[in-house]
Order: sequence, then C-alpha cells, then structure tokens
Amino acid sequence: MKQVLESCLTATINGETVRIQAIAPTTTLLEYLRQSGRVGTKEGCGDGDCGACTVALMAQGADGKLHYQAVNSCLIPIGAIAGRHILTVEGIANGCLHPVQAAMVQTGGSQCGYCTPGFIMSLFAAYYDGTVNDACVEGNLCRCTGYLAIRRAASLVASSPVQDVFRDRLAQTATELGEVSYDGAQSQFYRPTQLSEVLALLQQHPNATLVAGATDLGLDFSHHRKSYPVLVSLEAVVELNFMHQTTEAVEIGAAVPLSHIEDRLRGVFPSLDEMLYWFAARQVRNRATLGGNIGTASPIGDLPPVLLALDAELKLASAVGERTLPLANFFKGYRQTDLQPGEVIVSCKIARTIAPGAVRRLSQSYKIGKRGTDDISIVAAAFCIDLDEQNQIVHARLAYGGVAATPVRAIVVEQWLLGKPWTAETIQQAKSHLKTAFTPLTDLRGSAEYRKLLIANLFEKFFVEYP
Ligand SMILES: Cc1cc2nc3c(=O)[nH]c(=O)nc-3n(C[C@H](O)[C@H](O)[C@H](O)COP(=O)(O)OP(=O)(O)OC[C@H]3O[C@@H](n4cnc5c(N)ncnc54)[C@H](O)[C@@H]3O)c2cc1C
Ligand code: FES
Ligand code: FES
Repeated sequence: MKQVLESCLTATINGETVRIQAIAPTTTLLEYLRQSGRVGTKEGCGDGDCGACTVALMAQGADGKLHYQAVNSCLIPIGAIAGRHILTVEGIANGCLHPVQAAMVQTGGSQCGYCTPGFIMSLFAAYYDGTVNDACVEGNLCRCTGYLAIRRAASLVASSPVQDVFRDRLAQTATELGEVSYDGAQSQFYRPTQLSEVLALLQQHPNATLVAGATDLGLDFSHHRKSYPVLVSLEAVVELNFMHQTTEAVEIGAAVPLSHIEDRLRGVFPSLDEMLYWFAARQVRNRATLGGNIGTASPIGDLPPVLLALDAELKLASAVGERTLPLANFFKGYRQTDLQPGEVIVSCKIARTIAPGAVRRLSQSYKIGKRGTDDISIVAAAFCIDLDEQNQIVHARLAYGGVAATPVRAIVVEQWLLGKPWTAETIQQAKSHLKTAFTPLTDLRGSAEYRKLLIANLFEKFFVEYP
C-alpha cells in the first residue's frame, strides 16, 4: 500500500483522462460531473431511486470480461472512480446519435427530458450486453412521457446490435483495480488490494469507515452530507472478491457485487435467486455487495432472511486473527452487530447439503413491498424445510425481515414443526403460532397487524407453492 497520500486522482470520463484534486473523496460522482460542466447527467432524488443520474461504468462482470454497467452516479464517492472508465450521456454520440439515442428520438421517448439521460445510459449498458428489456430500466423513473414510448425505443435497439467503437473497447482485457491513497479536502480515501492492508489501515485509523458499493453509505454522502475523515474501500480487495462453489457449499466474498452473485449462482439457491430478483434495481445491484447488505444490519435488509434460512456462516477477520460465526449470532440489536472494532466481514458460506435423514428440501423467499422492484420490504420471509421419506419435517428454518429490530428466525415455531407432517393441518397450526411469534411495529409502510398476517400467510403461501 502506498505510504504517501496523493492529492490527485485520475480517471477516464468519456475517453478523456481527468485529474481530480482538492475535493473531498465523499463528493459524489454526480456532483463532480455537474460541477465540471458535464450537466447532461441529471439529479432527481439523489438517493438511488430514480435513475436520472445513471452513467455507465466499465467494469469486470461475473464472466471476468469488461462490461458497461449502469450505475447511479449520485451514490458513488469520487474516490471510487480512481483508475476507472466512465461514460456519460455526452460521451456516446460519437459524431451522430448513438442508436439508443436515435431510437428514443424516433419513438418520442422523451418529453421534459429530465429522466432521458438516465434511460439512455441504462439502455446503452444493456445494448452491449444484449439484455435490452424491461428489467434493464427497472431503476429509471419517468414522470411525464410514460413508458410505452420508451419501451418502443428499447424494442428498436434490442433488435439492432452493432459493432462500433464502444463494443471494440469491451474487447480489451479487464485489469484489476489498483490501489488508491488519496487525500482531498482533509479527508482520506484508501482503496487497498490486500486484506492485510485493510486490517492495518483500520488499526492506524480507528475512526475509519469501510465502504463497499456505497449504495447504503452513499446516502450519507449525497443526502446527509456527512463527512467521513477516513474511508477504506473494499472494492479491490482480492480476498473479498471471490466465489467458491463445491458440491458441499458455496462461499461468497463480502465485496462481490450482487449482480455477479445473480449471474454466477443462478439456480443454486432458489430463495437467493428470488430475493435478488426483487432487490433494488439493476444500477444498485451492479454496485451493492453481500458484505454491505449484512454490514448495514438493517432490519429490512433483504438478504439476511435468505441467508438465515440457509444457516449461512460468516468469516470475519481483524488484526487479531480470523473467526467464523453463524449469521444467526451476528445481529445483536437494531443496527448492532457482533463485529468488533477493526473487524471486517470477509465472506459468507452457505451449505448445500440437506439435513441427515431428509430426502428433499423445500426452500423459497418472498418479499412484500408497495411496488414490485426498487422498493423496501414491508416484510421479507425465507423458508427452508427438509422432509424425510414419510413427508415429516426433519429441519425447519423460518426467517424474516421487517418484523423485529434485526433480521430474525422464528425459532420457537421451527422447533414446534420438527417431527410434524408437511400437511395443510400442520401449516394452519403453525400459522397461529406465527401470529404471536413477533411484535412488529406499525410504520408508514404497514401496520403491525398487517405484518403479523404476512408473517403467517407467507408461510402458508410457501406450503401452497411447495406442497
Ligand atoms: C435505491 C436503493 C434501493 C435499495 N433496495 C434494497 C433492497 O431492495 N433490499 C435491501 O436489502 N437493500 C436495499 N438497498 C440498500 C443497499 O443497496 C444494500 O444494503 C446493499 O447491499 C449495501 O451494500 P454496499 O456494498 O453498497 O454497502 P455500503 O453502502 O458500501 O456499506 C454499507 C455498510 O456496511 C458496511 N460494510 C460494507 N462492507 C463491509 C464488510 N465487508 N465488512 C464489514 N462492514 C462492511 C459499511 O461500513 C457500511 O456501514 C437499496 C439501496 C438503494 C439506494
Ligand atoms: S439522482 Fe435519482 S438515482 Fe441518482
Ligand atoms: S421525460 Fe419527463 S420525466 Fe421522463
């Protein structure tokens, strides 16, 4: 790790090398773009919800190759773009309108135009991935044109991929992210590449804050304007960026983006597939990490219930050494965890084996929110039931988010289920136990009563779907 702090970051924006200096590393990429005159990229919400600020980041995909990834520039701290290539709406016209832009013009996909650069950049990224569909703009909101014209633009480009300069650039070999030690406006940003360096930095700077995809912490940069004297980015740390699969288990590095997990593990854990599908939107999943979702310790984090139901185990590391901990023992209270000062989540391991004596496993997850994608859960639930030859329950995990101060398992009901047959009658009895298992809160999203009904009814839904 470089010992001397540098006062300048370099990155490539629209093919031009830019030198960034004298600004705090928590300044968002969106702020930087607009302050430097690249005002094509718009600010709508400033918190990752509307997609107006979408830009394309050239980054390694799950296949190890370079891809354009749609990301929300309002959440990305400027320190994180060091050494990276960014494309904004100003950079894709290349002498004439880009096919995506031309299609939006042709179909009248823009009225006030505020959302348009964001839609263009999401479509641009999907265009080169061959994934132009509704899902590629799930993180983009339009208030005035309506989505039909935008959909028509999408259909036009979906059928006309071209070989051009942007595609040619993707043929380059993806290089690993380099390390960064930056000091700007009295704040420091480190991007080490080794876990040992992260742990050393945490010892040197007890006030340091870890940052991964910044899709949670980014709100502090954009909305709350909080200053962080020392940020330690985990994005480039080799030991946190791996996925290891055997027939026995899957281990996922804490800094692996969720979109990589979606791509690489599809079909392995149905409950994980399902929850990732409903998790935020493409722009967020391209940056958000598993370690970040666990690290926030949010009671409405969507992956902890899935991981609790699968008995996931965490590997944690500090300068003192490594330890493993069942995820079930990690959450200690509202936004409180067992993580000790100087400790980092390294990985999360999920066993693929079913309980002894079991012949089949039923496992699924459910997310109830006000709208389909890009919404916070009212209640999230994940279930895992192992059955023996007589159809009796030999292993039960019922885990929930949004019902208590932490993601939590219904342990009493799990124990009650053991030895019972997997029948409608058992489910009805379990439902009455589930209704009193937790005391959820009433808030803007739903009443306590509604949540109690969901806790019980989602388990019945699971039974109906997996009899
Ligand atoms: C528009 C939008 C929609 C969202 N939708 C959802 C959703 O549907 N479901 C959901 O669950 N969440 C959602 N989120 C929240 C967020 O995207 C997730 O919690 C995400 O997984 C956070 O990961 P990150 O890498 O971005 O974390 P960061 O923001 O980088 O970090 C979050 C916290 O975790 C800590 N941390 C990160 N990595 C580690 C590590 N390895 N060890 C220890 N601590 C660590 C950081 O210090 C920080 O406190 C949404 C956010 C936005 C902006
Ligand atoms: S400004 Fe709305 S997502 Fe960034
Ligand atoms: S064109 Fe006005 S918000 Fe989409």
